[in-house]
Amino acid sequence: MQYVKKVKLGLLGAGTVGQSLIRILEKEKDRILRNHGVLLEISKIGDRSYEKKELLKSYHCTKNLFEVIEDQTIDIIIELIGGINPAKELILKAIENNKSIVTANKALLANYGKEIFDLIKQKQEQKIPVTIGFEASVGGALPIIKNLRRIWSFGNIHSLVGILNGTCNFIITKMEEGLEYQEALKIAQEKGFAEADPSFDVSGKDAGQKLAIISSLGSGCWIEEKDIIIEGIENIQKVDHQIAHKWGMVIRLIAICKYIKNQLLLRVHPALISKNHLLADVKNEFNALFIEEEYSGSTFIVGKGAGGFPTASAVLADIMSIASGSTNPWFMEYKNIEIIKDAEYRFYLRFQTIDKPGVLAAISRVLADFEISIASMHQEEGEEPVNVVIFTHECKESSIYKALEIINQKKDIILAPTIALRVLN
Ligand SMILES: NC(=O)c1ccc[n+]([C@@H]2O[C@H](COP(=O)([O-])OP(=O)(O)OC[C@H]3O[C@@H](n4cnc5c(N)ncnc54)[C@H](OP(=O)(O)O)[C@@H]3O)[C@@H](O)[C@H]2O)c1
Repeated sequence: MQYVKKVKLGLLGAGTVGQSLIRILEKEKDRILRNHGVLLEISKIGDRSYEKKELLKSYHCTKNLFEVIEDQTIDIIIELIGGINPAKELILKAIENNKSIVTANKALLANYGKEIFDLIKQKQEQKIPVTIGFEASVGGALPIIKNLRRIWSFGNIHSLVGILNGTCNFIITKMEEGLEYQEALKIAQEKGFAEADPSFDVSGKDAGQKLAIISSLGSGCWIEEKDIIIEGIENIQKVDHQIAHKWGMVIRLIAICKYIKNQLLLRVHPALISKNHLLADVKNEFNALFIEEEYSGSTFIVGKGAGGFPTASAVLADIMSIASGSTNPWFMEYKNIEIIKDAEYRFYLRFQTIDKPGVLAAISRVLADFEISIASMHQEEGEEPVNVVIFTHECKESSIYKALEIINQKKDIILAPTIALRVLN
């Protein structure tokens, strides 16, 4: 068969995504050759347990991942081992060896992206065509990075608001249907949407790392995970969904990057949103992102944000783009930006109290001390602990945190830590 160009790939990590990539390449190799004139060949695979993986039997495999990046015949390194170490060292070394990278590693990019991109920049300044593809690091097959690349080139984002973690969204929507957190988590684990240890997802950390990447691209400045205020979904109970429902709202884990008066708001947290909001219709393992931008206005991207094949298809799209000669320079300018530390929101507060006179007065007194104004207050009927729900007017996050610290210490009337959720317009 005729081909224009042969591109040799070195794969680091043949797990869920790596093996899906191998399967797609095996199936679609001829079509890629026919349509793009590029013959993609996996030359070497680095994986610590390759002997146990049937699919890898016909490939040249090694446990020594450095052997792959030192192979002079390999053009593109595909890093799919995940985590910081040794992925960081491997990627930096591969770039030093003038190899382009494709990665799905959000943890690495959200914490060490600058170091990696700076090295690529140095190479590009020396006219060495090294680049990095990372579409798969955020939202699996959703074309998020592609869109942000366009904005980065010639536009300005106003905001990015989305649902970036399928595990949390699955759990949340199952709770909406009437399950408690642990029941919903169990189903998510059975269906393969949640890990045995789900803490990385349910703490909001995974969505936070993805937000760090997309807000860096959107703003043109380096945002790291530590710049983002992150709250998870672990403490929300079925009753919070039921109360939200009564008020015409639903709960979603929302990631936000928004310019407000030239400052950047960066948050990942559960929030109450109107049932009529488009994000309210994003259910189960689906991800979604609203992009508000100078020229194209509003764009809404929705789809399955994870899984072997969707993620591998994004990896392959990046490989194709690099194999076709794209070097896509990124982040050539750095600007400093002020990050908003303390923002104002309306809050939903659910206090779990004893059923005695004076409780509401005690709570309101502390809220008043911190200038938190109450918009409405309701006591849910039922046995102790009784749920007292307060919706506040807009107030500072810091005021809420301080007031709740005091209220939660009133063990004689408060029986469990208070649930505080932002209410978004
Ligand atoms: N899975 C998804 O849906 C998804 C979605 C978006 C992004 N991603 C990202 O894609 C990357 C890969 O995810 P995955 O789900 O494919 O992970 P995975 O199933 O755990 O695969 C990782 C593979 O790399 C191997 N490996 C890990 N550390 C190694 C080391 N130090 N030396 C040699 N081999 C090593 C593992 O070997 P063992 O089998 O022995 O552990 C495994 O085969 C991660 O960065 C992840 O965040 C995944």
